[in-house]
Amino acid sequence: MYGSLFCQLYNDFGWNEYPRALGRRILTWLDGHGLRPARALDLGCGTGMLCAVLTAGGVAADGLDLSPDMIDVAKTNYPGLAFTVGDMTDFTVEHRYDLVTCTGDALNHIFDPDAVGRAFACVRRALNDGGVFLFDLLDPDEVPAGEPFEAEHSDGTRVRFETVTDGRDVRLTIKTYEGDALKFEENILERVHDLGDILARLERAGLEVIQCSDRLLDTDGPGTTRFIAARAI
Ligand SMILES: C[S@@+](CC[C@H](N)C(=O)[O-])C[C@H]1O[C@@H](n2cnc3c(N)ncnc32)[C@H](O)[C@@H]1O
Repeated sequence: MYGSLFCQLYNDFGWNEYPRALGRRILTWLDGHGLRPARALDLGCGTGMLCAVLTAGGVAADGLDLSPDMIDVAKTNYPGLAFTVGDMTDFTVEHRYDLVTCTGDALNHIFDPDAVGRAFACVRRALNDGGVFLFDLLDPDEVPAGEPFEAEHSDGTRVRFETVTDGRDVRLTIKTYEGDALKFEENILERVHDLGDILARLERAGLEVIQCSDRLLDTDGPGTTRFIAARAI
């Protein structure tokens, strides 16, 4: 679970740049597919940035996240949007959506493949017929790992990031220091899912895969993320 200090770091430390840029690319992707969704739901919405970019682009977006602290940050950031605490593996909606998104590795936070299947079933029920589910996953062929690195926050706090992987699970450790004193540590675990299993579970949930690629847009370079889009049938 993402705790409050970590949520604040997420807000302050530039990770919001990923959903900000991705939101614009999703709007371009929708245009390229001739899709004009009126309403979207973002699962694992974090600080709400993707919802804000989609809404500004004409797709009214609500957010759902397991972490109450993330939802507090999202509500503070975007008081005009609707954010709810909820589990993407077991949620219901008051009305259906034309688009459901789940990005920033949010699905990699779910370890049990059956729970991923339950999330897909909930997504299908949340979508109008013909609606689209667009999500990203850590690419099994490109599991990220890297040298630890440190960044300095404007308030003088030092933050150290370290990613370790055994090829199946990824552990991201974030430590913050004041001077040399460790102030805070959080470990985020992510599961690298089997792609064949993911695609089979989508089909079983009534979601027909229309894209599975190492890039969202043809103009993107290859990355460590796989983008999958599926249409509700
Ligand atoms: C790496 S963050 C990505 C946040 C946001 N999508 C972004 O790109 O900035 C993953 C998010 O997924 C949320 N999350 C993890 N498991 C979840 C679940 N079962 N249901 C809903 N949200 C979940 C976490 O609380 C966290 O906010």
